[in-house]
Amino acid sequence: MKRITIAIDGYSSTGKSTVAKQLADYLDYVYVDSGAMYRAITLFALQKGFISESHFNKIALINSLEDISIEFRNDDTISVVEMYLNDKNVEREIRTFQVSEYVSQVAALSEVRKKLVTIQHQMGKNKAIVMDGRDIGTVVFPEAELKIFMSAKPEERASRRYKELIEKGDDITYEEIYKNVQERDLMDTTRKDSPLIKAEDAIEIDNSELNLEDQFHIILQLAKDRIVGRV
Ligand code: CDP
Repeated sequence: MKRITIAIDGYSSTGKSTVAKQLADYLDYVYVDSGAMYRAITLFALQKGFISESHFNKIALINSLEDISIEFRNDDTISVVEMYLNDKNVEREIRTFQVSEYVSQVAALSEVRKKLVTIQHQMGKNKAIVMDGRDIGTVVFPEAELKIFMSAKPEERASRRYKELIEKGDDITYEEIYKNVQERDLMDTTRKDSPLIKAEDAIEIDNSELNLEDQFHIILQLAKDRIVGRV
């Protein structure tokens, strides 16, 4: 069977990771959450004190990039993939609101993007991969056989993320999340290097009104069409 590359891009909290994971499980493909990689670098910068409320020492971060190792490791006992930063499991820490507040500034740095895109290319060299992010169909895998661009109303996205963080026990308000979602949309779409933009050949899906199951079946069908060569 033909092995394809599936690129899923879109705005923050559109549920890209959920559907990307479902697809990868179903097709027995590798799943890569590229956002987790940008989040891990942001966590590193916060831990080193390169980022504070009033200042971001970009040069210090850029000079430290060589010392950062980023790896997805598979926990076979529960069959989940988790993010490791310099050999430490940071899966929980990278999902905090504090990281969300700074990640788009870190992701705007070309040096950071260059390092991560190199790793992403390596992960995708044998195809059979589903990667989600902001620039996967445009920059990382412009030759991907299937490109999806996900969007949803900002209020819907903020309320999804709010539920997720509250369930995890974070102390956060809906208003803070809504503001963060909008700020990240703006920063991600207007940055110079690899802005979030729909690839010309991407299929746009607005999932404001779609449930997870319907969304999965729509995208799975698109993938199957490409795998068997119907498209
Ligand atoms: O919060 P959400 O799950 O929607 O975002 P994410 O996928 O974890 O990505 C976090 C941030 O990383 C984004 O807001 C972007 O600033 C950045 N990012 C990027 O620039 N390029 C990617 N391919 C993936 C994420």
